[in-house]
This record gives sequence, structure tokens and C-alpha cells, in this order.
Amino acid sequence: MKLLGRTVLVTGASSGIGEAVARAAHARGATVLLVARGETKLKALSEELGIRAHYYTCDVGSESAVSELAAAVQADGHSVDVLVNSAGSGRWVSIEDAPPSELVDMAKVPYLAALLTTRAFVPGMLSRRAGWIVTVNSGVSRAVWPGAVGYASARWALRGLDLALKSDLRGSGVGATEVVLGTVSSSYFANNPGSEDKLPKIARIVPTVSPSQVAEGICRAVERRRGTLIMPWQMKFVSTSSQHFPRMNHFMLWLTGARRKGALLKR
Ligand SMILES: NC(=O)c1ccc[n+]([C@@H]2O[C@H](COP(=O)([O-])OP(=O)(O)OC[C@H]3O[C@@H](n4cnc5c(N)ncnc54)[C@H](OP(=O)(O)O)[C@@H]3O)[C@@H](O)[C@H]2O)c1
Repeated sequence: MKLLGRTVLVTGASSGIGEAVARAAHARGATVLLVARGETKLKALSEELGIRAHYYTCDVGSESAVSELAAAVQADGHSVDVLVNSAGSGRWVSIEDAPPSELVDMAKVPYLAALLTTRAFVPGMLSRRAGWIVTVNSGVSRAVWPGAVGYASARWALRGLDLALKSDLRGSGVGATEVVLGTVSSSYFANNPGSEDKLPKIARIVPTVSPSQVAEGICRAVERRRGTLIMPWQMKFVSTSSQHFPRMNHFMLWLTGARRKGALLKR
């Protein structure tokens, strides 16, 4: 789907991957609707981009806030052609170290947020028989590592959402892309302190990519209607090895990751 003249709504547009996608889509001639909670950065980005950029503050983890967002977007006369679900957060912590309320928040954003925003904007796409839904996901949705239970399980839910959408929307004119990423040089690790230390040593051999590289990849994937985008290309080995050699993959990530002190090599 060409982005020129389309309307692209991006969640998490005030920072990192979402911000870069908004910039890249805008540069391709799309109208961009920028969504996040904090107003300052959204307003600054919207003013910088100028025409064809509008912003909406919204906690996309809240059902009522997403309904209000959809109503506001409609009242402003926008029809969303492409939805990019990039809002996400969550510290990498062992299950017993995460307060229950934090685990709930990690499930809300990104997973419930992507489900709710898709529910809000897919009816318009279906009625026009055209649209695209992008889910920004992590390599942890292919290969898990220790010390990140809330984070990892929410990304597996995102993977399920993308697969379920592909099945449900088949033949409807609305497609979906899942974006599976290694480390990206955004503010994610600064915004979620303590997480980067938990990245298994073996995973550090995958090069870091920039938000703008990811954004270019996402725009190209939407334009070419590709169902999956894995970045950088070295992540494909992680994905393939987890599929064909799951036990070895799991063991190596555990062995070189933030495993529990005194944990036995035997299961
Ligand atoms: N960076 C990486 O290395 C990496 C790698 C793989 C996957 N990912 C995934 O990519 C996604 C985006 O990460 P990023 O690197 O772009 O992170 P980031 O730079 O921290 O940006 C997160 C964005 O999400 C927004 N957000 C957070 N909670 C929200 C909520 N409840 N409602 C609305 N917006 C919300 C933030 O704005 P407000 O705080 O103002 O709401 C911000 O715009 C995450 O799910 C992350 O797991 C990142």
C-alpha cells in the first residue's frame, strides 16, 4: 500500500521507533496522526512536521481513552488507512521482582493497547476494503531469555495478535505486518531502567539498528505488503534457530542471560 496521500496513525509517536515511523511516513506524503500520553514531545513533533501532522494524547492501554481517541479522529475528519502499533514499555525484571500492578501495565501496553486500537480503527478499513496494521514486536517473541517474564509474555501475545489478525482479515483488503526487532538505539532502555543489563551475552552479537532504519523498513514493508519484517537480518538466525532448535536456543539464551544465582544446569 503506497503511503502517499494515506493517513497513518502511529501510537508511541513521541519517541523512538514510533517517532521515526511518523517522520518516514510523513516524508512519503502521508498525513500522520501522532499518539502518545505526553503532550510536549507530540506537539513539538507535530509543529516540526507542519502540514499533514496532527497529534492526540491518549493512554492506549485504556479502553475508554482509545474510544475517545477514535471519536476525536473521526470528528476531525480523518480515516485511518495504516495503523502502526508502536507504543510500548516494560522493564525486564524477574517475575517475583515485578509488582502485580506493573505486570498488568506490561500486558496493557503493548498488547492490550494494540488490540484495542486495532479494534477501534479496523472497521473503517474493512468498510473501505483497504488498510494495513503494523505490530512492532521484539525478538523475545521468537526466543525468550530469563529475567523478563512480563515483557516477554506481552510480546508473545502481540505475536498471537498479528497471526490472528492475518487469519481473520484474509481476503478483506486489510493486511498486517509484524515487525520483529533486535536492539534498537531508541530511548527504550533509558525509559525502562535495568532492562539492558538483562540482554543475554549471545544476543549482543546481533547489531543494533537505529529507529530511522527500522522506520524505513516498516514503510517499505507496508508499501510491499510484506507480512513480516525482521531487523537486522541477523535476527533471522535467531528466529530460525528458535524454530528448528528450540531447546538449544532456549538453553544458550538462559546460559548467557540473567539466570538466577545458584540455578542448576539440569532442569
Ligand atoms: N528499543 C528497542 O531496542 C526495541 C527492540 C525491540 C522491540 N522494541 C519494542 O518497540 C516498542 C517501542 O519501543 P521504542 O524503542 O520506540 O521505545 P521508546 O523510545 O521508549 O518509546 C515508547 C513510546 O510509547 C509511548 N507509550 C508508552 N506507553 C504508552 C501508553 N500507555 N499510551 C500511549 N503511548 C504510550 C511513549 O510515549 P508516552 O510515554 O508519552 O506515552 C513513547 O512515545 C516497544 O514495545 C518495545 O518493546 C524495542
